[in-house]
Amino acid sequence: MSAETPETLLATAREAAERAYAPYSRFRVGAVAVDEAGNQFVGVNVENASYGSTVCAEASAVVAAAGTGVRRLERIAVVCLDGVNCYPCGNCRQILREFEIDQIIVEAADGTARTHTLEELLPNSFGPEALDPGS
Ligand code: THU
Repeated sequence: MSAETPETLLATAREAAERAYAPYSRFRVGAVAVDEAGNQFVGVNVENASYGSTVCAEASAVVAAAGTGVRRLERIAVVCLDGVNCYPCGNCRQILREFEIDQIIVEAADGTARTHTLEELLPNSFGPEALDPGS
């Protein structure tokens, strides 16, 4: 586990959220994904005039990590500047599942860090092994 604390990761996610591109919802989200070596990859939500083309902050952090060759993530911290209890949406939970994330850190309404496993947020999930029944 990298040396960063949940609080320092949330601070990094918060800083990233300031750079969110959210002109339509004005709901700014930032995320930082951490790989097993402790490398950090930030992401923000990137909205689109064609609303359905919007990319969530968690997804953009995962894409940044995957582009460097990362295939397994240790942690992700998520902050939304314009709301409370910023839990990853269902689609992002599935995206995190693919990269075997260990911990998902969110900021509770009172500002404290909450750490969850993926199993807590996405029980009985569908994953790569389901496509390979022989394994
Ligand atoms: N959003 C995220 O970035 N992550 C989530 O897990 C939930 C929602 C973004 C998408 C959109 O730009 C805005 O928040 C409002 O839904």
